[in-house]
Amino acid sequence: MLDSFGRKITYLRLSITDRCNLRCRYCMPEDGVPPTAHDDLLRYEELLRIAAAAVSLGIDRFKVTGGEPLVRRGCVDFIQHLKALPGVRQVTLTTNGLLLPLLLDELCTAGLDGVNISLDTLNNEQYQRLTRRTHTANEVLDTVRLCAARLPTKVNAVLLPETADQLIPLAELAQTLSIDVRFIERMPLGAGENDQTIRADAALDRLRAHWPDLTPVNQPRGNGPARYFHTPDMQGCLGLIDAVSHSFCDRCNRLRLTSTGLLKPCLCYEQGVELRPLLRGGADEAALRDAIRAAILQKPAAHCFQQRESITEHKSMNQIGG
Ligand code: GTP
Ligand code: 5AD
Ligand code: SF4
Repeated sequence: MLDSFGRKITYLRLSITDRCNLRCRYCMPEDGVPPTAHDDLLRYEELLRIAAAAVSLGIDRFKVTGGEPLVRRGCVDFIQHLKALPGVRQVTLTTNGLLLPLLLDELCTAGLDGVNISLDTLNNEQYQRLTRRTHTANEVLDTVRLCAARLPTKVNAVLLPETADQLIPLAELAQTLSIDVRFIERMPLGAGENDQTIRADAALDRLRAHWPDLTPVNQPRGNGPARYFHTPDMQGCLGLIDAVSHSFCDRCNRLRLTSTGLLKPCLCYEQGVELRPLLRGGADEAALRDAIRAAILQKPAAHCFQQRESITEHKSMNQIGG
């Protein structure tokens, strides 16, 4: 379906939990967020009903996110059922990777089409400081290697001043492994909303200084807002997600669903359509479809991360799903 600016909406991000086994400083407060009552979370059957209604409007690609999606029990079965819904073309997962070694086989069998793993630094001390937990970057890097051999894999690294020395080492992963490495401007949402980001253009200058033959990739790659670059000696690509300094909103293709059932037309505004009361109030597929259509028609022309005072979303990233 087209929104009111003529953009085709084909992709839905489903946050299945706001819980996480890490506490990344840019995402979550140290003490976490007040736990969501179990009954307030959408059940998997409810998520599948929403997905089926979304498919009927032309949404055929789904991203499963959190918090950390793999901490929710039953996540793999859910992915399997989602992928098996008639009309669903692609199901991918964005995760911190910690539980992937345990679940990778099952996820591949379930039909998962790709995985994005968050890894902001290869330095173990930096990783522990940033995530406020004792896991290491080495552990996650091993997991990235494991996944790269099995399914399309991307690394997501948020562009933080404290990990500036990691830009080239992280980018080199796209040379040694068949993965994309994407650098994301830190968006001023939720925990640490006043923290700084490194601008994507500054990161690109440094990447170009290191790889003078870096050229833009013109074919579409992935479903998201990343701009990709490549050199002939790289197995994968480098990507930039300049969510703050530029607007890629003219190409926006997506809606997001929070784990409690708020269907959000845009990341930076709190506005949305509450689906949980509908689901639990006897709504049929046609009513769900109308609600999704309403959310699509509410999509604004662009986000407002450059004008902080216009941001009305105050939830943390883990409550929205990135
Ligand atoms: P794929 O490339 O298809 O895997 O999708 P993706 O890049 O959207 O997936 P991922 O979940 O890895 O998101 C990467 C980063 O992009 C996260 O920090 C998201 O918050 C950010 N992002 C994704 N979509 C949007 C968007 O519509 N607006 C903004 N501002 N940021 C987004
Ligand atoms: N700005 C940019 N990216 C963020 N993520 C979490 N919080 C932020 C933020 N404030 C990233 C995670 C993950 C993806 C879903 O979103 O690192 O890779
Ligand atoms: Fe957890 Fe991801 Fe947030 Fe880090 S960015 S605290 S891994 S939800």
